[in-house]
Amino acid sequence: MMPAEVDLTVYPDECDAFGHLNQAAFLSLFERARWEVLARGPGMDLFTRSGSWPALRRAVVDFHASALPGDILRFSQTLIHRGRTSFTLRQSARRLRDEAVVATGEFVFVCIDRQGKPVPVPEDLDAFLALRAGEREQAGPARITVNGVSLALEDQGEGIPVLFIHGYPLNRSIWQDQVNDIRGFRRIAPDLRGLGDSDAPDLGYSMATYAADLSSLLDSLGTRRVVLCGLSMGGYIAFELLRRHRERVVGLVLISTRAEADSAEGRKARDQAAGVARERGAEAIAESMLPRLLSPVSQQDQALVHRVRTMIAGAPVPGIVGALTAMRDRPDSSGLLGSLSGLPTLVLAGESDQLIPLDDVTRMHDAIPGSVLKVIPGAGHLAPMEQPTVVTQALQEFLGLLPQ
Ligand code: MLT
Repeated sequence: MMPAEVDLTVYPDECDAFGHLNQAAFLSLFERARWEVLARGPGMDLFTRSGSWPALRRAVVDFHASALPGDILRFSQTLIHRGRTSFTLRQSARRLRDEAVVATGEFVFVCIDRQGKPVPVPEDLDAFLALRAGEREQAGPARITVNGVSLALEDQGEGIPVLFIHGYPLNRSIWQDQVNDIRGFRRIAPDLRGLGDSDAPDLGYSMATYAADLSSLLDSLGTRRVVLCGLSMGGYIAFELLRRHRERVVGLVLISTRAEADSAEGRKARDQAAGVARERGAEAIAESMLPRLLSPVSQQDQALVHRVRTMIAGAPVPGIVGALTAMRDRPDSSGLLGSLSGLPTLVLAGESDQLIPLDDVTRMHDAIPGSVLKVIPGAGHLAPMEQPTVVTQALQEFLGLLPQ
């Protein structure tokens, strides 16, 4: 394992009139540190000899303190995400004289060939940048920063990407079985901003923001075409993505969701729930939602009930309030449905969903030309968790019919 730390000295010609290391020069030092790590490991020609060039897709840098001429900065490099054709490096620069962290950054690369087509990340990169097992656990889930917010995600497998979009106030773990078991397709399951392990800013939640986060995430991962698979609020976000990026979407799966906007009464209930979250926290939201989330059969499964309760109780309050605001203000998507003609669409519904009644789902299915509806026996609002095998199988069959 190569040392992933490099010491670089700050020179006067890299500094501004106030004597601080200039931000553009700082980016050069980040790059110098990356090349230095390569030079000490598999060789600076790693990428040219593999025919796979790392094009910088996204750079997000936070500056925390100044660096002056003569300072020695220790740059650390950690691989925090490794997909098939993309990878993300987290880098930090520490001032050796006082150990202050001067800057941190995340750099997303997509590997391309000479024609600019995405190609696999060279295997040698793993050999020296791969995290040791313990480090990987400590590092937590893969993360990518989009629109100033760090999103946690699962990214497994190869093939046409399926973007799994969870509901409220849940996280990517609702898709655990589908992400682990579906074959022949890339499975990408992020935590939305404000939920799961993603950053939870205080403000800035709307369907438009969620959709912008996810399209930037797909850009960062180097994927163009995508199958959208949204559950409940995830479906509302899928509609927003369709309004903005219809050309990218090659398949659609809508689970336990509806096209209509909230009624006046529904909007009022969102504000009341936001008040509960602010005053009594996420646990109170978990207690009020649990009886309505799972089918009577699933309510008997203590392990499942515990999983769902823990997931909701662990949700950050700003993320809960933000999602409630975003749902309250979402546009009506009924008018979009007729325009989805030609887009392969699967609609799934839990037979005893108390949150989004079967009638709403059926109306949505009727309005999407050519869509297929499957009702999942024994499932409530969370079919992917309640009946994971049935849902995985339905998805696998649907995906298998998509034009490759
Ligand atoms: C969800 O599961 O995402 C929400 O229950 C949807 C909603 O409340 O409209």
